[in-house]
Amino acid sequence: MSALQQGLSVSAMSAQAPDKTDPLRHLDFTGSCRELSRPRREARRLRCVPGTWDRYLGSNPPEQLNPFIRWVFAQAGLHAAGYRSAVLQRRLSSCLRALRASGVEEARAILERDPSRLNVAINALLVGVTEFFRDPVVFDDLRRIISSLARGGRLRIWSAACAQGQELYSLALMLAELNLLSGSDLLGTDCRADAIAWACRGEYARLEIRSIRPVLREKWFIPVKERPERVRVATDLRRYTRWQVDDLLRGVQPGPWDLICWRNHAIYLAPETTRAVWRRLVRELRPGGLLLTGRAEGPDRALPLTRVAGCIYRKR
Ligand SMILES: C[S@@+](CC[C@H](N)C(=O)[O-])C[C@H]1O[C@@H](n2cnc3c(N)ncnc32)[C@H](O)[C@@H]1O
Repeated sequence: MSALQQGLSVSAMSAQAPDKTDPLRHLDFTGSCRELSRPRREARRLRCVPGTWDRYLGSNPPEQLNPFIRWVFAQAGLHAAGYRSAVLQRRLSSCLRALRASGVEEARAILERDPSRLNVAINALLVGVTEFFRDPVVFDDLRRIISSLARGGRLRIWSAACAQGQELYSLALMLAELNLLSGSDLLGTDCRADAIAWACRGEYARLEIRSIRPVLREKWFIPVKERPERVRVATDLRRYTRWQVDDLLRGVQPGPWDLICWRNHAIYLAPETTRAVWRRLVRELRPGGLLLTGRAEGPDRALPLTRVAGCIYRKR
C-alpha cells in the first residue's frame, strides 16, 4: 500500500459524515462538495494527512543543489538551503525555458546583464499554483468554526505564502457572507514581488472564478471594462486586505493573529525549516486562534495545538 493510500485508510476511520442540519450549508461557496459522492468527499477530506508527501518529494542535501539555483536565490535575497533541494532542482528546466537560455551559463549571463529578469527566474523556480477556495472541504470546515473566533471584534487574519492572493480573497468572501468581514484586517504575504503585485490588483481571468457559485461571482467580482475575459474583486472585499512582499524564512508577521493560513508551502521546504516556521507561526497566534494547513502538511505534535478539523488546528 502506498504512503498516500495508508494515510487515507488510517484517517478514513475518523471520517465524519457531513452534517445535513448544518445551518450554514447554504453558504457552500463553490458547490463542488455537493457534486462529490460521500465516499469521495471523505477521501478528499482525509488526504489532510501530514507527512504523506515526504516520501514523494524527497530532500536532497543542500550541497547537491545546482550552484546556479543557489546563486539565483542569493541574488533574490532568499535562502535556498531552506528548501527541499530535490524540488528546486526539478524546476531548473522551467527556469531555463522562462529565461530562454540553453543552459545555466547562458542563464546566469542573461541575469547578470539584466538583473530585472531575476523575477522571471524566481517565479519559475518557486511553485505559485493556487486557486480560489482551493480544497473546498477545508473552507467548509472553516466556515463552521470561524464564528467562534470573532468574539464580537474584528478578526486579524494572515495568509502566509499567499501566492497571487486567491486564498486571502476566498477568506474575505467567506467572512463577508458570514457578516464577519467589517473592520477585519486581512494580510497576504509572499516572497515573490510579482505575486504580491497581482494580488494587490485583485484582477483575475474569468475562468479562475468558474468554480465559485454564480450568485457569489456576481456579487463579489466586477467585470473589467474593455477586458471581458477578466474580473476584479469587489472593493467591498479588497478594502479589508493588505499585501506585503515578505520572506517567511526570515521571520514572521507579528501577532496576535486570530487565524494564520499557511498552506501548500511547507511541503516545498526542508523538514527542519518547516519545523522552525511552524514554531514561529504558532507563537504569533493568539490562544484560541486557528492555524490552517495544506492537506499534506501538519505542525509538530509537540506544539500547543489541537486538531479541530482535517486541516485546522486551534492553539491551546
Ligand atoms: C504553492 S503556493 C501556495 C499558495 C497558497 N497558500 C495556496 O495554498 O493556494 C506557494 C507559495 O509560497 C511562496 N513562497 C515560497 N518561498 C517563500 C518564502 N520564503 N517566503 C514567502 N513565500 C514563499 C511562493 O512564492 C508561492 O507563491
